[in-house]
Amino acid sequence: MTTERPHLGSRSDIEVQVTALLQAGRHIQPVLWQGQPAWLKLSVPQPPAWRYQLLAGMARLLQQPSMQPVRPHGGTAGIRNEIDRITALAAAGLRVPQLLDHDEHWLLISDIGHVTLESLIRHAGADAQLAHWQRGADYILQAHRTGQYLSQAFARNLVWSPDHGLGAIDFEDDPIGAMPLVDAQIRDWLPYFFSTAIIFKRRLPELCNAIHAVLAQEDAAVREGVVRAMRRTTWLRALRWLPRRMQRRDVLKTQCVGELAHRCSRF
Ligand SMILES: Nc1ncnc2c1ncn2[C@@H]1O[C@H](COP(=O)(O)OP(=O)(O)O)[C@@H](O)[C@H]1O
Ligand SMILES: [Mg+2]
Repeated sequence: MTTERPHLGSRSDIEVQVTALLQAGRHIQPVLWQGQPAWLKLSVPQPPAWRYQLLAGMARLLQQPSMQPVRPHGGTAGIRNEIDRITALAAAGLRVPQLLDHDEHWLLISDIGHVTLESLIRHAGADAQLAHWQRGADYILQAHRTGQYLSQAFARNLVWSPDHGLGAIDFEDDPIGAMPLVDAQIRDWLPYFFSTAIIFKRRLPELCNAIHAVLAQEDAAVREGVVRAMRRTTWLRALRWLPRRMQRRDVLKTQCVGELAHRCSRF
């Protein structure tokens, strides 16, 4: 993989690469920065507001402040946000990429591993799957214990290195400002469950046991908030009655998280 990475050694190399990415309509590229694997990430436009208004209506309907969507800033503010979050998480002792260079429209960060946690769990044997899932859960717990939050805690945004362990990436939005810390921490568990439930769809009782054990280590307010959010989403399992042609992967994932919520709520 490293052989395909463009070699960058200076600011002007970065600027040439930024122009090439913009022309190709891409926003992220693995590179070699002074011989070390790194990622060049460009700012992206802010997504349209209507999407978030729809989701906000849904969060109100379910009376779930933690499900309040957070619209990423996009542009220069998005880059600034990513820098601020990486800096805060690193200061709290969490493994995140090192900030190598940046300007208003791009940032260059170190590579923290070659496999996402999602892929690691998906391709592991049955026993290892739960152990890998636990690593992601431990990372989220550790972030919360230091008074931090991740915001985009999908398993694809946690990256594994056999030598250095798990790290987190992708911080374009910041829920603080839209909600209190406790809701931001409740909110971290939801994408983690959403992105992993489908991998465990034939082993949901085992996943529920792991979830209960992990939540037992959370602050009571976060634990209760997650349990409440799960109770309010059990109805999503009804999506299984949709006609087969409508059961695309995102629908299946949503239905599976409803199934998980239903099972976990029975404890
Ligand atoms: N610092 C990094 N170390 C290792 N992999 C990374 C890093 N940054 C990005 N990636 C890879 O690129 C993918 C997309 O990066 P991400 O920051 O999540 O951007 P997006 O906003 O497109 O989701 C990630 O899922 C991961 O596979
Ligand atoms: Mg991502």
